[in-house]
Amino acid sequence: MTVLEAKEISKQYQMGEVTVNALDDVQFGVQKGEFVAVMGPSGSGKSTLLHLLGGLDEPTDGQITLAGQPITRLSDDEVTLVRRRKVGFIFQFYNLIPTLTAAENVALPLLIDGAKVRDYEQKVVGLLDLVGLTDRQEHKPDQMSGGQQQRVAIARAFANDPEIVLADEPTGNLDSKSGTAILELLRRSCDELGQTIVMVTHDARAASFADRVVFLKDGRNVRQLNVEKKSGDGEDIRAIMRVMRELEM
Ligand SMILES: Nc1ncnc2c1ncn2[C@@H]1O[C@H](COP(=O)(O)OP(=O)(O)O)[C@@H](O)[C@H]1O
Ligand SMILES: [Mg+2]
Repeated sequence: MTVLEAKEISKQYQMGEVTVNALDDVQFGVQKGEFVAVMGPSGSGKSTLLHLLGGLDEPTDGQITLAGQPITRLSDDEVTLVRRRKVGFIFQFYNLIPTLTAAENVALPLLIDGAKVRDYEQKVVGLLDLVGLTDRQEHKPDQMSGGQQQRVAIARAFANDPEIVLADEPTGNLDSKSGTAILELLRRSCDELGQTIVMVTHDARAASFADRVVFLKDGRNVRQLNVEKKSGDGEDIRAIMRVMRELEM
């Protein structure tokens, strides 16, 4: 089942006299339960693509469909609801609210969507258990390591049972060991819970945990590679790095 489909999307930014073609006629589809990595040089349009897929911005041309619903050319209220109910975001710098505990950060999307405390308490406990932070519920972000904060952010992204989770360099600020824990958690959420994930990364090792790597260059979707072992395997990493070299990334 196709969860997310982008058809012939283009994005242009107008900078005074200059038009920047951030994305140029990109086709992109993601199946349910798939973990897709997006790679490309700096400025190739990765973040732009992720923003469009999550309804944070609108394409100049083309159509994006999420769980059967077109998300382009909706009203602001409609797209806000799509984002809140159907999309989970994970960022490089976690973006947790510093004055809230881990449990409160995870509960926030549920609260915003109008859930009652007694309805979400169990859910929050389950989510913190899923990411291995049962004993950190009452900790504030500055009392946790970067890896722990990112696991809180993942629990928060999963809170509304989103159709898709979009992650922009989720391991970019972490050491290799904490990064691996995050990648294994994302991998497991696809394999065991049928979660669907699109992750932007410039790291071949991070991408080697995905099912498939999509390569962007100059705003175009230029290559695609299926990952064999999907677990940080050396052969997979080398195969990804070969394509990176061919594309002069
Ligand atoms: N808000 C913006 N205004 C103008 N140009 C932008 C804006 N955001 C991105 N761009 C340009 O679009 C291109 C793609 O950017 P981006 O999607 O951030 O690439 P990446 O995430 O791959 O580094 C770049 O040339 C960048 O300078
Ligand atoms: Mg970027």
